[in-house]
Amino acid sequence: MLIMKNEENPFVVTGYIKPDYFCDRKAESERLTKLLLNGNNVMLKSDRRMGKTGLIQYCFNKSELIDNYYTFFIDILHTSCLQEFVHEFGRAVYEQTTSRGRKFAQRFLKALRSLNGKFGFDAVAGTPTFSVGLGDIEQPEYTLDEIFNYLQQMDRPCIIAIDEFQQIGNYPERNTEALLRGHIQKMSNCHFIFAGSEKHILGLMFENRSHPFYKSADNMDLDAIPRDIYVSFICEKFEEKGRQIQAEVAEEVYDMFEGHTYYVQKTMNEAFSNTPEGNACDQESLMYSLRVILDGNSGLYKEMLSKMPLRQKTLLYAIAEDGWASQITSATFIKRHRLASASSVQAAIKKLLADELVVEEGKRYRISDRFFSLWIKRAILT
Ligand SMILES: Nc1ncnc2c1ncn2[C@@H]1O[C@H](COP(=O)(O)OP(=O)(O)O)[C@@H](O)[C@H]1O
Ligand SMILES: [Mg+2]
Repeated sequence: MLIMKNEENPFVVTGYIKPDYFCDRKAESERLTKLLLNGNNVMLKSDRRMGKTGLIQYCFNKSELIDNYYTFFIDILHTSCLQEFVHEFGRAVYEQTTSRGRKFAQRFLKALRSLNGKFGFDAVAGTPTFSVGLGDIEQPEYTLDEIFNYLQQMDRPCIIAIDEFQQIGNYPERNTEALLRGHIQKMSNCHFIFAGSEKHILGLMFENRSHPFYKSADNMDLDAIPRDIYVSFICEKFEEKGRQIQAEVAEEVYDMFEGHTYYVQKTMNEAFSNTPEGNACDQESLMYSLRVILDGNSGLYKEMLSKMPLRQKTLLYAIAEDGWASQITSATFIKRHRLASASSVQAAIKKLLADELVVEEGKRYRISDRFFSLWIKRAILT
């Protein structure tokens, strides 16, 4: 069934966001674009799900960039060694440049001599395919060199965004930072965005003298979209689609998640889908939509909790109860939440942080998944 334009959900939660449905980020996108156009590298940091990827993709589609540059986007969150990095990088470069024609595909094939004979072939299009397996990349350093050489010869400058860049710090190859830095420094026609959510590790990589990337990029921190702008955006989108929502209801959603983009978007997406054309989303239907989301995640959350040792679980509940928890090893905190001891809290928080179930900001802690936090506090919703 064809979805009529008025039915299209304006609160996008996956994939590319059309400019019409992209909220704000005016100053940020201008600054990011300007830095890149002027030949700078950028380190873009924010909490997970705040909108880094969205912002990069929004900028990549601006005419200043799309018409004059080749842009690449590589997400390396799931990679765990240099070989995988090179595989992802190679694939991104292959897919982007060969979509421009056979000539590029052939040039790519020629450039990557180390993978000779490992490409597949698409007989219909008459082009090689990047069906290279991870194991085919036997000498990742060598292949990396070839990819950079290929890029160096492109007929336009390139912008390469590496998402979740802090991941390279976890590779067993200790020299990855230095290796990449060496290449990047030599590239005259490539500029880079290093994006990531592990602010602490990224900070170290770019602001510590002993790291190869020290001061090699301009810093950009992405915060929540301002409240008044986000609330107007929500009300406007409802109106454009022949529906209504009171500003107070949108404000409540914003405040509940401190404007954290994904959680606001997901909630509004659900709320919109439960509001037929001509109707209004009120407080009651907002609460209904939230319940639907939390119920949908129940299985996952229960599963996570079932595997968690009691001490971590009780600390997790304590943090959820406070929203933002501070001084978690103090006697008051421990007593108030009936926890075992300061040392057990210390051990538990270490594990919760390592598993990214909890995030820290200036000695305060919150549950990373804000829906999980609400789910734990479910009582307040009913
Ligand atoms: N400016 C925006 N307007 C509307 N939705 C956005 C915007 N930026 C991000 N989103 C949505 O918020 C969620 C998180 O964004 P994403 O870019 O994936 O975050 P990050 O890369 O920081 O983890 C996604 O569902 C995305 O669709
Ligand atoms: Mg991202």
